[in-house]
Amino acid sequence: MHSTTTKSQERGGVIERYREFLPVSPSTPVISLGEGNTPLIYSPRLSERVGRGCEVFVKNEGVNPTGSFKDRGMTVAVSKAVERGTRILICASTGNTSASAAAYAARAGISCVVILPAGKIATGKLLQAFAYGAKIVAIEGNFDDALRIVRELGKTGDFAIVNSINPDRIAGQKTAAFEIVDELGDAPDFHLLPVGNAGNITAYWTGYSECRAQESSTKLPAMVGFQATGAAPIFHDRVIEKPETIASAIRIGNPASWKQARAAIAESHGSIDVVNDDAILAAQQWLAQHEGILVEPASAAPIAGFFKWCDSDDAARSFQKIRENCRIVCTVTGHGLKDPDVIIGRMKELKPIAATLKDVRRAIEL
Ligand code: F0G
Repeated sequence: MHSTTTKSQERGGVIERYREFLPVSPSTPVISLGEGNTPLIYSPRLSERVGRGCEVFVKNEGVNPTGSFKDRGMTVAVSKAVERGTRILICASTGNTSASAAAYAARAGISCVVILPAGKIATGKLLQAFAYGAKIVAIEGNFDDALRIVRELGKTGDFAIVNSINPDRIAGQKTAAFEIVDELGDAPDFHLLPVGNAGNITAYWTGYSECRAQESSTKLPAMVGFQATGAAPIFHDRVIEKPETIASAIRIGNPASWKQARAAIAESHGSIDVVNDDAILAAQQWLAQHEGILVEPASAAPIAGFFKWCDSDDAARSFQKIRENCRIVCTVTGHGLKDPDVIIGRMKELKPIAATLKDVRRAIEL
């Protein structure tokens, strides 16, 4: 799937780069903040960990304009909404969708309503929704309740829903798979990512499938999704009434794209697995301190999952018997600055000392 980029468009967003593969026409107004074209970073340490000549890459979606992968879908969803004459966007969110929707609404000059679970949104994400000027409604309920209400409100015709139940969101997000195929020259063998409402795994699978159909890739990756242990409806194959995890972005008990995620996993011979909160936080810290990539907890789930699969000798779910020279891509979905609370806790250890050379030398243990 080769991008249609010319030199002058390199700074353009995903619609400019991939417009022939997206549901847009020349008359669609392009509402963009320059999203996409994110780094695919080779990780020698992760590659060494899995061994057998395999290569591991981290697709860093945290460097999108509002700090998450949502921007890829939002540019398409908002452009299409504006084309249809929409004046008000609406979404339910665990934080990132609301930040993205609010920003693209601002860019388009239209309004945005976000329905959020009260007290469950990471500080940076809520800050973004405020800063971009969204109308924010906090409910005494979880994300699944918020999405139920948004679906009801959507029926009135007053709002355009920009959650991933909107197919324009999925269309935009599939461009991440296009970029990976363009950069690697083929699809990887495994693609690991966090799963919450299950839109993104659906989008990647759509993107990889289109690449294969267009013969820009020779193969399809196994799609491997990771849920948090306390919020793992797809893994357990049942609705979780009260999902709980430190990874608030994926604190979801009844994913909207459940069926599509199941299909992606089955068709790709992939898998769904769980990682616990301790493993998620350890992986977040590892990625920051070994690769210089600071991600939010939900985004560390596939890294935690990668380690689990390297360390586990369970044959069905393991990289221990992986074929030689495989390529593995892990998508990290959101920037770490969005969700600083756990790390802020650690910052309390910092105590000021006297402003003398002697004291400073002692403090840095020289
Ligand atoms: N990672 C991050 C950082 C997210 O914000 C989300 C979803 C996911 C992973 C999971 O993606 O839902 O497509 O399976 N966040 C949504 C939101 C639910 O409201 O921001 P998914």
